[in-house]
This record gives sequence, structure tokens and C-alpha cells, in this order.
Amino acid sequence: MLDIRSLTKIFATQPQKAALNGLNLQVQKGEFVTVLGSNGAGKSTLFHAIAGEFFPDEGQILLEGKNITFQAAHQRSRFIGRVMQDPMKGTVPAMTVAENLALAEHKGIKGKKLFSSITKSQKEQFQEKLALLGLGMEDKLEQPVGLLSGGQRQALTLLMATFQQPKLLLLDEHTAALDPATAEKVMQLTQAVIEQHNITTLMITHNLAHSLAFGNRTILMDKGKIVMDVQGDQRKAYTPQLLMEQFHQLAGEETTTSQQSFALL
Ligand SMILES: Nc1ncnc2c1ncn2[C@@H]1O[C@H](COP(=O)(O)OP(=O)(O)OP(=O)(O)O)[C@@H](O)[C@H]1O
Ligand SMILES: [Mg+2]
Repeated sequence: MLDIRSLTKIFATQPQKAALNGLNLQVQKGEFVTVLGSNGAGKSTLFHAIAGEFFPDEGQILLEGKNITFQAAHQRSRFIGRVMQDPMKGTVPAMTVAENLALAEHKGIKGKKLFSSITKSQKEQFQEKLALLGLGMEDKLEQPVGLLSGGQRQALTLLMATFQQPKLLLLDEHTAALDPATAEKVMQLTQAVIEQHNITTLMITHNLAHSLAFGNRTILMDKGKIVMDVQGDQRKAYTPQLLMEQFHQLAGEETTTSQQSFALL
């Protein structure tokens, strides 16, 4: 359903180095792919290109057979959901929880009056969804999002990103800024929401154990390319230790510094 062909992006500030270097990736509908790679490997750049934040220098991005390579980002946001590392992004802090959810619900619908039109039944629906998160947010509908904790905001962003059941969900280290217990909770929520709606997902993580525990396929990026792709029975035999060894083999000497940034557990 996602077909990326020979994708290349060279930033003007680093003309000698391609952030994406002829990258190819095919993802089937319903696949949940975890994405590994050392700092600067090009993971976020790949997500930005898929979301349309910039256009690539070469190559194509097809989603369900449609060429979206040069489609505007706001148009893609109707069917591509995203959650980034920073809990401060993804929601509007000055708006209430209910208003943020209404915004997500109306994404892509033009001319709709947003805030005067949040009905009682809508609020009940929001409350129901928030209760499922198990973070006590169902009582905070009228609170500005800026007052929520980082974990609550990430859970809300996840809810908003999947409100309209996107064709593709992009998660860029979305639990990295959270404390371990909240990160685990948001990961469980992530898995539940993906499974419930069978959402095709790409998730960047630096956690080797997470990269195997979640999803059904793991890829490793290095220097703007995919250098390892593990799925099926082959993946079941993998351990975080084996992944670490392969990481060093495939991603070369530059990975020594990233060793510390990888959590084995
Ligand atoms: N907007 C930009 N302008 C110039 N260079 C950029 C820009 N965005 C990314 N780069 C460069 O492209 C390369 C890939 O960066 P990217 O953010 O995709 O890495 P990453 O794999 O997400 O790393 P990390 O694990 O640290 O998040 C890096 O060398 C980075 O400095
Ligand atoms: Mg990144």
C-alpha cells in the first residue's frame, strides 16, 4: 500500500551528503514496521518526505497506487496520521481537550464551524474515547491541553492522529520523552489502537527490545538507505542482542557512538 522508490533528499546545507539516498521501501496494508538506525541515519527525514513536509530531489512515493510525491502536506494529513517525539507538538496548547478532539474529527472537512458546534453527544463520545486511555482525561474535556502532562498529551495526540483511521500512521520516537511507566502505557495504547483498526504503521524507535516486541517487521536505516529488513519467521528468532550485533556490522563504525543511545531492555 506504501511504495517508495529511489527516494533521494539532499539538504542544501550538506550538499555532499544525502539524507535519503535512493531509498526503496514497500509496505503492505496492515503491516506494522519498526524503524531503527543511528542518529542522522535519515529516519525522520523519511517520515517528513512521506508526510509532505518537503519534496524529494528524486524518487516517488505512492500510497494505495496513487502518486503523492508532490501532494501538499495538508492534503496528506487527511490520511496520514503522525505522532512525533515532542509532546508539545501535535496538539494546540491553548485549546481545550474537547476543542482539540473536534479539530481532529473535522480534519479535512471545510467550512465546518468548530467550536460553537461541539454537541453534547460529541462530548460523550470524546469522554468515552478518553476513558479508554486510562489516564484520567475523561474529566478534563474543558481543560486547556497545555495543562496536561507529557504522557497525557502524547496519548491525546495518538487519539487525534487515529481519530479518522488514517491509511498510514507515522510514529517518530513518540514515547522517547516520557518516563518509563508512561512510555510503556502509551506503547500499549499504540498497539491496541493499531490492532483495533488494522492501521498500516511505521514506528521509529531507539529501543531494540521495542523494535522486536511491537509490530511484525523491523528495518534498519543507515546513511539514507535501508540496510536490514527482517520479517516473518526470521524475525521471531531475533533477540535485541543479535540486532545489536547486526547493527554494528551493517551500519559500520559510525555506530559506535550510538551504542550508548540504544536501550537493550
Ligand atoms: N531540515 C534540514 N536541513 C538540513 N539538514 C537536515 C535537515 N533535516 C535533517 N537534516 C540532516 O539529514 C540527516 C538525517 O537526519 P534525520 O533527522 O533524518 O536523522 P534521524 O535518523 O531521524 O536521526 P535521530 O535518530 O537523531 O532522530 C542528518 O545529517 C541531518 O543533519
Ligand atoms: Mg529523528
